[in-house]
Amino acid sequence: MDTLILGADEVEKAAQIIKNGGLVAMPTETVYGLAADALNGNAVANIFKAKGRPMDNPLIVHISDISQITGLVREFPENARRLAEKFWPGPLTIILPKSDNIPDEVSAGLDTVAVRFPSHPVAKALIGASCPLAAPSANLSGSPSPTTLRHVIDDMNGRIDAIIDGGDCAVGVESTVITLAEGKPRILRPGGITAEQIRSVIGETDIDAAVTAPLADGQKASSPGMKYKHYSPKAEVILLDGSDDDFAEYIRNEYDDKTAVLCYNEEKDVLPCMCIPVGAKNDDSAYAYHLFAALREADERKCSRVYAHCPKKEGIGLAVYNRIIRAAGFKVIKL
Ligand code: TXA
Ligand code: MG
Repeated sequence: MDTLILGADEVEKAAQIIKNGGLVAMPTETVYGLAADALNGNAVANIFKAKGRPMDNPLIVHISDISQITGLVREFPENARRLAEKFWPGPLTIILPKSDNIPDEVSAGLDTVAVRFPSHPVAKALIGASCPLAAPSANLSGSPSPTTLRHVIDDMNGRIDAIIDGGDCAVGVESTVITLAEGKPRILRPGGITAEQIRSVIGETDIDAAVTAPLADGQKASSPGMKYKHYSPKAEVILLDGSDDDFAEYIRNEYDDKTAVLCYNEEKDVLPCMCIPVGAKNDDSAYAYHLFAALREADERKCSRVYAHCPKKEGIGLAVYNRIIRAAGFKVIKL
């Protein structure tokens, strides 16, 4: 199929495609999403085909008005209301018991549904002109999430009806996913809203063990997405955990002409190998913003090995750590 590239002023055309059961990639503040009518099971099934996504990995439903949530969930408890009031629209996804309206294709057989109210004006306008949208990240399953129009075209051209150009995504990593459906609140995936911010609104909140560690053999994933190999470029990614001096020394000893380094801006002129900067030293928001584009660039530049700094496991650094540790297949070298 031919994939239309639409401008941000062509949301009406995109909404018509959605209403006809088609697939549209849309910009959000986190990453680009691949959207279909959330209540149309056949349309949602086509998302899985276009991405090559395993059918047991559920999707997030995107809304553009808090009142839409009542048709999607069985209950909207007080702690969910407080989080929604504070962080919506924005990069927070809340898991709640699902209503019977939600097709099985969306929830992948679970009795819960994940809901998010994005803040990107184009996403809001598209939902407003159509309906609540089921949308995973708009990448081929397994590759880094798309944060630019170019990334979406590279992965999805010819596989979906349309892509709306909304420029580059501001956050760069996906939303924080929290479950409020199983007793104590628990973060299943860290993202743009930090654990510290969430605790300041609803108090005690756990972080699922799968956020920072691989699942043990046979262990069930609370968030099915966590069990799959993810965010992976073709190159081997290795995290280096140590001081900046030790990082530079390790690279000087180990690099060859197929090595790339995800480095701080300050390091790019002093390291001897291919450098892909991910922002200034200690700026974890910049690391988040650049991460997926940097992993894709490593492949474009045909390197076989990528070394990266190990981010701090706090604030938005926890989201960067969660993504890059998976891209690295949990390979970390302590310096
Ligand atoms: O920022 C984002 O969240 C982006 C943009 C497009 O909104 N979307 C996104 O979707 O990252 P996706 O499908 O790539 O990741 C959703 C994650 C997956 O790990 C999935 O397993 C989990 O959320 N998830 C969705 N529904 C769930 C549910 N009912 N219970 C547990 N985990 C769920
Ligand atoms: Mg994804």
